[in-house]
Amino acid sequence: MPQSFAHISDPHLTSLENASPRHLLSKRLLGYISWRRKRRAEHQSRVLQALQKDLENSDTQQLLITGDLTHIGLPEEFEQAARWLRELGDPTDIVLVPGNHDACVKMPWPDSFAHWQAYMDSDQDRAETFPSLRVRNGIAFIGLNSACPSAPLMATGTLGNRQLSRLAPLLEEAAAEGLFRVVFLHHPPLPDIEKWRKRLTDAAALREILVELGAELVLHGHAHRARQHTLETRAGSVLVAAAPSASALGLHGADIAAYSRYAVSTTEGGWELDIEGRRYNAQCQRFEALPIQKIPVRRK
Ligand SMILES: [Fe+2]
Repeated sequence: MPQSFAHISDPHLTSLENASPRHLLSKRLLGYISWRRKRRAEHQSRVLQALQKDLENSDTQQLLITGDLTHIGLPEEFEQAARWLRELGDPTDIVLVPGNHDACVKMPWPDSFAHWQAYMDSDQDRAETFPSLRVRNGIAFIGLNSACPSAPLMATGTLGNRQLSRLAPLLEEAAAEGLFRVVFLHHPPLPDIEKWRKRLTDAAALREILVELGAELVLHGHAHRARQHTLETRAGSVLVAAAPSASALGLHGADIAAYSRYAVSTTEGGWELDIEGRRYNAQCQRFEALPIQKIPVRRK
């Protein structure tokens, strides 16, 4: 029986309607202005409600969320997002990595990411939260945290050497166990996908590890656009797929909300990966299926 999971990104599910002015005396002010001018209309809770219904009608066993649950990372936004996560499902079935909006300014852990801890945790206790590792029915989900505060008008991400050095053994061990390895993070790992001010600063170091050790699938968000690229590794091509914002109406040139469902079946030489895109139809206010892609993935 194929193993299934889904990937959503950038839900930006919070409202800043009651944001306290004392919290806006920082880089957050620019984010707040952007929310008032554009994002408030672009990201809609009715789209997320339709998404939730669509997920409930699927056989998704694990849901991956690649960051940007908030707009400017306010403490009350972390609480709002935690309530949304609890409505969406149990932490054993949902795993997330943060995005740059969630790390708009430096925040004490208890006021911020602690609210999401259960949704970021690995199966087993680890010394540090990231990279996270969950193994479900022959699939290893490896989560990387690229969210860190950056200068005003910048939306970069960085993984850092500590996290990258812990990634390599995870990939090696998962490969040795014959697992289908899904690496997921907020920022795109490939060059020239995102503007310089929005890039992953150590993407080259991440690519080096992926080229050397491989992965079966890489997922990310950040650009609010659905895209597929490939990364050539020593053992063959790896699909790198981006999800757009899960709550967007597509008003300002970004894609309308969509997400992907993945099913992995074992074959003689590796796996077959079936991808079903699900895109929001604003007229019917529901998500609809796009044509299914079937991709053979060779064991590396
Ligand atoms: Fe982002």
